[in-house]
Amino acid sequence: MDEILIIDYGSQYTQLLARKIREVGVYSRVDTPQKAHPSDKTMGVILSGGPQSVYSSNALNIPDWVLSSGLPILGVCYGMQLLVQKFGGRVLRGKVFEYGMTNVILSEDTIFSSLPKVVKVWMSHGDSVEKIPDSFIKIAESEAGITAAIRSSNKKIYALQFHPEVFQTEHGTEMIRYFVTQVCKARQNWKIVDYTSFAIEKIRKTVGNSKVIGAISGGVDSAVAASITARAIGENLQCVFIDNGLLRMEDESVPEKLQEVGMKIKRINSSDLFLERLKGVIDPEQKRKIIGKTFIEVFEKEAKLSDAEYLLQGTIYSDVIESAAASTTSAKIKSHHNVGGLPKKMKLKLVEPLRELFKDEVREVGKVLGLTPEILDRHPFPGPGLAVRIIGEVTRKRVDILRRVDDVYIQILRKAGEYPKIWQAFSVLLPVKSVGVKGDERSYGYVVALRAVNSAEGMTASWYPMPHDIIREISSKITDQIPEIGRVVYDVSDKPPATIEWE
Ligand code: XMP
Repeated sequence: MDEILIIDYGSQYTQLLARKIREVGVYSRVDTPQKAHPSDKTMGVILSGGPQSVYSSNALNIPDWVLSSGLPILGVCYGMQLLVQKFGGRVLRGKVFEYGMTNVILSEDTIFSSLPKVVKVWMSHGDSVEKIPDSFIKIAESEAGITAAIRSSNKKIYALQFHPEVFQTEHGTEMIRYFVTQVCKARQNWKIVDYTSFAIEKIRKTVGNSKVIGAISGGVDSAVAASITARAIGENLQCVFIDNGLLRMEDESVPEKLQEVGMKIKRINSSDLFLERLKGVIDPEQKRKIIGKTFIEVFEKEAKLSDAEYLLQGTIYSDVIESAAASTTSAKIKSHHNVGGLPKKMKLKLVEPLRELFKDEVREVGKVLGLTPEILDRHPFPGPGLAVRIIGEVTRKRVDILRRVDDVYIQILRKAGEYPKIWQAFSVLLPVKSVGVKGDERSYGYVVALRAVNSAEGMTASWYPMPHDIIREISSKITDQIPEIGRVVYDVSDKPPATIEWE
């Protein structure tokens, strides 16, 4: 299988590059400048972006083999500056900053053929090219006159100052496709099924005969991570499913469904412990912290009972980006808890088979492993479960009401064919009662809010324009079947300013 080797200089977008190449149907491999080495299948090399300046005292360089191999090269951002310096051009340090969307004027070079003359691209650089090396020509320039792309005149070397891999860059995929298929001549024969076999082999090699323990949440990521690990090491994987009393009806059957496909899962009922600790708690952050801490406690106890050496985590690439962002710039909005975030102090070594994949690729891997759509196509569900969908105090009675409401809602969406069109749909129980009339009697029941959104990986969201006849059906079925509910409302808030969950 042909491959493109990406040398990672530390850009937060490196895995996106790898993903874009996979989208084009070509296998790509990411490695550090120190370790990267070509194989007989390597058809081209990409030098990624990175946070450094080529003038830093500890600046990472282009490994010697890259230029002597004669392989086609694409430099992106920092990768471009490395090439410029290497070939005798000059990089201007920190004089011109371009961050965000910039218009770039493209020449008629073949890499841009069939693209418009001006495209919007994502720039993120402080250093820029001041003098192009003699053996190179400029093929794109930003509106501010900064060199945006160059190409060697006699070798297959290209360099872009902007990031073709991020979705904001118009026609970025076409540029990458051209480089990979036309310049490198890589064959488009990569399939997710190959990745799955490769990942299974990698788990086997890493873990050997040791035991692995992992938590199953009912969500897609942990199910696929466990399934691929089970395929690799069989009985040596022990999965734990913790019932925290805050699950939806649809989550209940997940362990059985996974057991059906051959996984060993221990179910632990800790609902009394969780609900006891949540007694009287109203503050959303406090709820989240209590649940996160209790989850870890229960899981740690289990891990100690096993003789596991490894901890399986269902981390996917968007979690990696999110936690990097969370650790640096972003303000804390919510304390996230998920099974991908078990404590480091557990001193178990990590197995993270999905770390490089995006959600839709994880679903594809799941399909290859034979998981059913009932497991793979489910909407995301937060670690703290229904606790953050019950505004005010969480009690067993309220959980029970919300579980029934949610079940009616989701069943109708599935039956009507709406469920797959929506990124996430759920209901929220409000601590408010409202007057109504049922039969000829006055009623006084809870208000429930229905939420449905479409979203880009949960970072932003827009409320879903649900067909009116379906909302009507949902609303009347909820009030007919669940006597505690007196009123149903539909949430029409986008994120921002609202978040997807109410707490
Ligand atoms: P918000 O409410 O922050 O949610 O707009 C964005 C996405 O994240 C999910 N979410 C969580 N997922 N642990 C998780 O695994 C959590 O603690 C958590 N809180 C929110 C939420 O359901 C939405 O998909």
